[in-house]
Amino acid sequence: MKTQKLNREEIFAPGRLVHVDESRNLAIRNLSAEDLHKGDVFFSQARPMMLDRWLSDMEQEKSVFLVARMGSRYAGSCALDADPYKKYEAAFICFLYVLPKKRGSGVGGTLVDSAIRVVRDLSISAVELLVHSDEGMDSVAKRLYLRKGFEEKAPENGFGELMIRRV
Ligand SMILES: CC(C)(COP(=O)(O)OP(=O)(O)OC[C@H]1O[C@@H](n2cnc3c(N)ncnc32)[C@H](O)[C@@H]1OP(=O)(O)O)[C@@H](O)C(=O)NCCC(=O)NCCS
Repeated sequence: MKTQKLNREEIFAPGRLVHVDESRNLAIRNLSAEDLHKGDVFFSQARPMMLDRWLSDMEQEKSVFLVARMGSRYAGSCALDADPYKKYEAAFICFLYVLPKKRGSGVGGTLVDSAIRVVRDLSISAVELLVHSDEGMDSVAKRLYLRKGFEEKAPENGFGELMIRRV
């Protein structure tokens, strides 16, 4: 399905609906101040200050933090660093997480698709990420990224393996 290209203001708008899949009752939205108060987003439990930071980075048009919900319930999230002032020319997926009980039904894949769409609409030519070594090279995450068109860019270096997808 061809989707209309969004402008910068729309891309970074808090709470914007990014993707909806009625058959799975799945909706993906940009992080909003409301999410901070709901307190159910994984990151808010792990590190309360981080969501504030992502929201502020979104307001400064540096990052997009996507929140997936099934119905009203939190299912997963994906953070994309798209800071245009950084030297490298790629955006970076720096956080992808799906609640264990929601895994294996396409939430992670849909979050990655949505992040790729954001990168495309920002006219950034590539998106990169690190797959962490402790998950093993045939991890669910790596298989997902390969399926979504990512390729190995640099081998494991202690932090993880760098992967890239041209957009
Ligand atoms: C990696 C992670 C985000 C994947 O999320 P997910 O929602 O399970 O991902 P998907 O459902 O899109 O794909 C995972 C598997 O489910 C399968 N799947 C996708 N849609 C499906 C559906 N509708 N029905 C059944 N299976 C489905 C996929 O084929 C895939 O199978 P595979 O493991 O054989 O490749 C999740 O496991 C996670 O949060 N892990 C911990 C954090 C992490 O590792 N993050 C990545 C850091 S690099």
